[in-house]
Amino acid sequence: MKFFIDTADTDVIREAQSKGWVDGVTTNPSLVAQSGKPMEKLIAEICEMVPGPVSAEVLSTSYEDMLVEGRKLAAIASNVVVKVPLTEDGLRAVHSFTEEDIQTNVTLCFSPMQALLAAKAGATMISPFVGRLDDISHQGMELVEQICQIYDNYLFDTEVLVASVRSPMHMLQATQIGADIATLPYKVLKQLVRHPLTDLGLEQFLKDAQSIPKA
Ligand code: E4P
Repeated sequence: MKFFIDTADTDVIREAQSKGWVDGVTTNPSLVAQSGKPMEKLIAEICEMVPGPVSAEVLSTSYEDMLVEGRKLAAIASNVVVKVPLTEDGLRAVHSFTEEDIQTNVTLCFSPMQALLAAKAGATMISPFVGRLDDISHQGMELVEQICQIYDNYLFDTEVLVASVRSPMHMLQATQIGADIATLPYKVLKQLVRHPLTDLGLEQFLKDAQSIPKA
């Protein structure tokens, strides 16, 4: 499974990458706004740091404007993945980007039929938002299961990128289902490492080691 980091904070990306935890990056307009940097400059900076896919989202909502904006984003670096919202215009833009060999990540997916349409448009990745579904008392992971089953049934190449991940439990479920990618906030990545028994065990080993004869 590939781990993407869900942030536009270059310091955080650098730190996570130094630990070998970053196969790619996802950004969204809210995260870019938090970074305080202009979109194109920021995406160029991230693409230089990370060789894997870097998702950059279009802000336009019409097909024509998405095409212009998406092409501009794709020209920043060869690892840019143009992130497109799951709307009628968005799907049409994905269809055109597919013909132009521009990689796409279809975002804000909340139903299996939306995911089917994204795959038919040739999306490189589909992003089901599990945390936001949980927030409204749905089972976000059920959506991931449904999408994986549909894509397996019809042999679609579109990768399932589990998004809006909020906890290690989401990660466990995503890996058990067999999703291709998950994008995680750095906080959740770090939570995956920690276990109190590891800390206690290490503490005990280091204590016992003090009585090992020196030579
Ligand atoms: C994914 O591409 C999105 O940027 C992200 O996962 C959204 O997460 P949130 O629902 O926690 O904002």
